[in-house]
Amino acid sequence: MTHLLSAGDLSRDEAVRILDTAEELLSVASRPIKKLPTLRGRTVVNLFFEDSTRTRISFEAAAKRLSADVINFSAKGSSVSKGESLKDTALTLQAMGADAVIVRHQNSGAPHRLAHAKWTQGAVINAGDGTHEHPTQALLDAFTMRRHLGHLNDGGLEGRNITIVGDVLHSRVARSNALLLDTLGAHVTLVAPPTLLPVGVDRWPVETSYDLDSMMEKSDVVMMLRVQQERMNAAFFPSAREYSRRYGLDTARMNRLPEHAIVMHPGPMNRGMEISADVADHARSVIVEQVTNGVAVRMAVLYLLLGGSAEETTDEGETE
Ligand code: NCD
Repeated sequence: MTHLLSAGDLSRDEAVRILDTAEELLSVASRPIKKLPTLRGRTVVNLFFEDSTRTRISFEAAAKRLSADVINFSAKGSSVSKGESLKDTALTLQAMGADAVIVRHQNSGAPHRLAHAKWTQGAVINAGDGTHEHPTQALLDAFTMRRHLGHLNDGGLEGRNITIVGDVLHSRVARSNALLLDTLGAHVTLVAPPTLLPVGVDRWPVETSYDLDSMMEKSDVVMMLRVQQERMNAAFFPSAREYSRRYGLDTARMNRLPEHAIVMHPGPMNRGMEISADVADHARSVIVEQVTNGVAVRMAVLYLLLGGSAEETTDEGETE
């Protein structure tokens, strides 16, 4: 693994290796000193062309907990045309010796361009490109599901039913989850109004449905997606109220889930739209835990991509 561009690039073994490594690294977060020397002297650059709260902070925390030097570059507001600014920025970072570049960009495919055009020699990690992919979000979601449902089935997600609901059309989280969960043997159903399912979804490894109510009893996980108003240039549904009524998760719907089922959301949430406040704060919602797990999963990705040696980690961290 040289880069992490798409969740679909991961083999089952690679994905499980990341999840197992994250499991070891999660213990670091509960120690008084949350730091391992593994990436000492390495430079990690956060290159964010799009707004982000949790993903950027999560990558920063992950890199710092592994003792890497972190440079935060927020490219918002640049007047240079998108392609040029990405190239120029990447070349500048390369000149500064970036070992890993974590990139979030409003254009689908930007991280692939960065990696394949060799504008940087560092490992490229896709932290969300347009409406395309967000592989580390899918990994932290799978990690969270495995911790809750693993006991049902030998530690894996084989045969579990995952229902992903809402604005699939604009969601890079949905695509990355569909690809990764398929690799891990889970069954994914995407539930959305017809207008919010992308063209070509029939080629994704998923089933689709327009009817959320019909899915409740058979879901092990319900993942709600944010309605991405900022990417909408047309009316995709009649009204917010109508959307919530048919595709929102409220307490009455949630109560129809099996006892063991969990509720997820990648954040940021529109409370009252795709998820009610009661459900968001309910004991079976694991939304805050997803954020905690995100740091461990990103530590694992950085550790495996930048080749931190196991012995080094054992000195102080006992991670291997
Ligand atoms: C998602 C994103 O940016 O793709 N959020 C995240 O990374 N936690 C989903 C969203 O913006 O709705």
